[in-house]
Amino acid sequence: MNALTRRGLLVGIGAAGGAGAMYAAMGALGLAPAEQAGAFTPPAPGDFTLRGRASARVVIVGAGIAGLTVAYELGKAGYDCTLLEAGERAGGRNLTLRGGDRVSETSGPAQEVRFGEGVYFNAGPGRIAPWMLTMDYCRELGIPVETFVNNNAHAYVHTKGRTVRARAARADMYGYIAELLAKATNVGALNRTLTKDDKERLLEFLRRFGDLGPAYEYDGSSRRGFVKYPAVTRGIPLDPPGALHQILAAATGRAITNDFGYDQATPMFQPVGGMDAIVRALTAAVGPGRIRTGVQVTGITTRQNDVEVTWSGGAHTADYCVVTLPPHVLATVPHNLGAAVQAALKTPVPVAAGKIGLEYGRRWWEIDDRIYGGITETDLDITHIWYPSHDYHARRGLIVGYYASEGQAELYGALTPEDRLRRALTQGKKIHGEKYRSELLSSVSIAWERRPHIRGGWARWPAFDSSFTLLQRPSGRVYFAGDWLTYLIAWQAGAMESARNAVTQLHQRVLQSP
Ligand code: ALA
Repeated sequence: MNALTRRGLLVGIGAAGGAGAMYAAMGALGLAPAEQAGAFTPPAPGDFTLRGRASARVVIVGAGIAGLTVAYELGKAGYDCTLLEAGERAGGRNLTLRGGDRVSETSGPAQEVRFGEGVYFNAGPGRIAPWMLTMDYCRELGIPVETFVNNNAHAYVHTKGRTVRARAARADMYGYIAELLAKATNVGALNRTLTKDDKERLLEFLRRFGDLGPAYEYDGSSRRGFVKYPAVTRGIPLDPPGALHQILAAATGRAITNDFGYDQATPMFQPVGGMDAIVRALTAAVGPGRIRTGVQVTGITTRQNDVEVTWSGGAHTADYCVVTLPPHVLATVPHNLGAAVQAALKTPVPVAAGKIGLEYGRRWWEIDDRIYGGITETDLDITHIWYPSHDYHARRGLIVGYYASEGQAELYGALTPEDRLRRALTQGKKIHGEKYRSELLSSVSIAWERRPHIRGGWARWPAFDSSFTLLQRPSGRVYFAGDWLTYLIAWQAGAMESARNAVTQLHQRVLQSP
């Protein structure tokens, strides 16, 4: 059955038997949105007209990206949504810091953000892959996006105490790998694997891949870059590459493959003006009046006909609840959802993640280093240095001086903000020299495992097992949502996909309820 015929059939069933019948038929055809990724149909007011049902009251715990997306999608069909947010602001880990903001952690004094006009720091998510749902929401909500430079040949690779341009590190690794493989091919070491034609084709590719010479040797390449780039004269090339064993000893492997993954490949994107444009647009669409901040939920009770959410000094009753808290936080909230749910919530492990934003009064990375966006990869505990992919040639700018997770993030997170800064500057100076310290204007750091109400950069499932699938389904009248319930953990797209999954199930239930 082709798509057109199938749609025609479903419209017919919808008209005759109502939307509930249509959903049932879709399920039978394997088309129900929960079953078919990418085929999400937003709830619409017409769904109720057809079925003779009314929308419901939904209380959403947590106003991060998952909670906001749930409210936004349910709101399209007129559901009466209330969001309860423990923090002072919506957005969750989608946090963009600007001058005048304050950042608090579970211990220690709050940091005051002193950035100048126009400078911002995406302290949480910072990049979006083009295939992700996040891009669809940006389009739908009218949020302008721009390219996020995730791979910059002119950024550096710093390993084993040496700093080289990424283009040189890549050219040398690719060059020598190509030479080795060509040698193996030419001495017949691969004869059992390759036909004569295969060999010729492989050699032809290897010559291009490694920029090899006539005898399939690698002895450097203009791909490595220049001391002085070509102009009216030929240019002055870099010194020739080291020998193969030196290149291997430099251990650039992780650094030059960082963007090979399907989720990190170029091009990537960011909203213009800061990642929180997504929070602002979703909040505006949901209606700011639906979000109650400063409400730390202390109890969730699912009952026969409704659900009650309580907090110190208040309670809210609704027909359904969608909880979007991180699992390790939700596990500390008393509820009556059962022992299996509680055990499942305790299964994912919170992962530490942290970043520091360093503001400079001169964009020396552009002026001196000719680095426009992109990332320097290092084997230091700072892991990466991110250069801004926006406001090129502006007066001020901000770089991300570390972005670490797991053990290295814990190491930085355990320090005071001053010591985090000191350590990050000591490391970054190894690559960029004294200006890295002397030209700094201000800084702010974040340790997500120390953020109140969130307490983690993201969560890791030891295995995507029955606990994972259990929580993708409701318990009584309570649904769960968050990036941690998808295979897109640590991505806003995960929160959005999970939100859609909860919305689809909840709406289907409301349409089918007697
Ligand atoms: N999504 C996170 C990143 O891009 C993990 O670094």
